[in-house]
Amino acid sequence: MDPRCTMGLAILIFVTVLLISDAVSVETQAYFNGTAYLPCPFTKAQNISLSELVVFWQDQQKLVLYEHYLGTEKLDSVNAKYLGRTSFDRDNWTLRLHNVQIKDMGSYDCFIQKKPPTGSIILQQTLTELSVIANFSEPEIKLAQNVTRTSGINLTCTSKQGHPKPKKMYFLITNSTIEHGDNMQISQDNVTELFSISNSLSHPFPDGVGHMTVVCVLETESMKISSKPRNFTLPELPSVGKNWIQIRAIIITLVFVLLFTIIVARIYCKKQNQPIRPSNTTCMSEQDGNAGRESINLEELGPQVASAKPNAE
Ligand SMILES: *[C@@H]1O[C@H](CO)[C@@H](O)[C@H](O)[C@H]1NC(C)=O
Ligand SMILES: *[C@@H]1O[C@H](CO)[C@@H](O)[C@H](O)[C@H]1NC(C)=O
Ligand SMILES: *[C@@H]1O[C@H](CO)[C@@H](O)[C@H](O)[C@H]1NC(C)=O
Ligand SMILES: *[C@@H]1O[C@H](CO)[C@@H](O)[C@H](O)[C@H]1NC(C)=O
Ligand SMILES: *[C@@H]1O[C@H](CO)[C@@H](O)[C@H](O)[C@H]1NC(C)=O
Ligand SMILES: *[C@@H]1O[C@H](CO)[C@@H](O)[C@H](O)[C@H]1NC(C)=O
Ligand SMILES: *[C@@H]1O[C@H](CO)[C@@H](O)[C@H](O)[C@H]1NC(C)=O
Ligand SMILES: *[C@@H]1O[C@H](CO)[C@@H](O)[C@H](O)[C@H]1NC(C)=O
Ligand SMILES: *[C@@H]1O[C@H](CO)[C@@H](O)[C@H](O)[C@H]1NC(C)=O
Repeated sequence: MDPRCTMGLAILIFVTVLLISDAVSVETQAYFNGTAYLPCPFTKAQNISLSELVVFWQDQQKLVLYEHYLGTEKLDSVNAKYLGRTSFDRDNWTLRLHNVQIKDMGSYDCFIQKKPPTGSIILQQTLTELSVIANFSEPEIKLAQNVTRTSGINLTCTSKQGHPKPKKMYFLITNSTIEHGDNMQISQDNVTELFSISNSLSHPFPDGVGHMTVVCVLETESMKISSKPRNFTLPELPSVGKNWIQIRAIIITLVFVLLFTIIVARIYCKKQNQPIRPSNTTCMSEQDGNAGRESINLEELGPQVASAKPNAE
């Protein structure tokens, strides 16, 4: 085909589209529980007063959100689900939809009609595509289990009440860019239709490393949100072990004190017994006195026994 002909055709189609549709298409975004602005830019009927026009908005199921009929608000045709949720801005012909819910996502049409004595003419139609977003809460790291030397850290991270559906959530440990996470779960509230996401991490302390800094990251289509970093330190020896060391120290001290007492006592006894029995090495109390005398007696008997021996011979 002749390129000029193709171009001509393209221009023709373009112009036709412009002529056929008086519809203007707009995309808009609103926060959950916030206000959506549904515009109705009034270009063609600039000189016509509102009192000569009918302006109304419909959702994609043709339910009426709001109607401004020849200069006054008209509530008869408004659907119950939109009653009390809208307000009309006369300055720029924008309808405000309050307390936006996820269910409100979709397309809306605004019509401007002129009411001649008979029938009505649509002067303009504006289509607005509404998307609803909700910011996820800042991801929060919590300990699922206390930090121990053997199991290391055991954490969970959660972020709540966001929209649209998040992509992923993961943990970053110290300076590494490796994404960790054992169990990512996404859930949706069946009333608000908002999403929540969580993940967990179980990670031992690497050999020779006594310190880990952990950050939890949530990724959505449009952004990354990080949690506050958390520091984890390899715990000291458990307190039971510490007590045990103290107990052992006390026992050893006691044993030494006991030994010392015995030695001192022995030396003292020795000194007292020295004049009577220089050869005696055992400490004797008053009670032991008899035993001492007995042995003395035995020794005294010794010569007698010995002297008896020759007699027997
Ligand atoms: C919705 O917004 C109102 C005020 O605009 C606030 O009081 C309420 O707590 C919000 N609800 C939620 C679920 O965010
Ligand atoms: C608006 O009305 C004025 C006179 O009332 C006229 O001169 C002007 O062309 C009109 N503009 C449009 C866009 O119809
Ligand atoms: C319409 O005007 C109001 C202020 O009068 C402003 O807050 C709002 O953003 C405007 N909306 C649009 C779609 O321009
Ligand atoms: C949502 O997050 C964006 C980007 O962080 C911020 O600019 C905006 O103010 C937040 N909106 C609300 C309603 O929290
Ligand atoms: C982490 O802690 C949770 C909750 O206490 C527990 O169910 C899970 O088994 C722990 N994971 C590991 C690997 O220890
Ligand atoms: C962690 O240890 C503290 C005491 O140090 C205790 O009160 C708490 O219950 C422990 N938590 C878990 C999840 O084991
Ligand atoms: C992490 O990075 C910081 C600065 O980039 C550096 O000072 C620090 O030593 C690093 N830590 C580890 C464990 O590599
Ligand atoms: C939400 O869904 C769960 C399971 O699908 C159901 O048990 C629960 O009753 C629902 N809650 C509401 C408020 O509908
Ligand atoms: C965590 O550790 C980093 C360095 O490793 C330090 O800069 C930061 O202050 C620590 N934060 C807390 C809360 O201890």
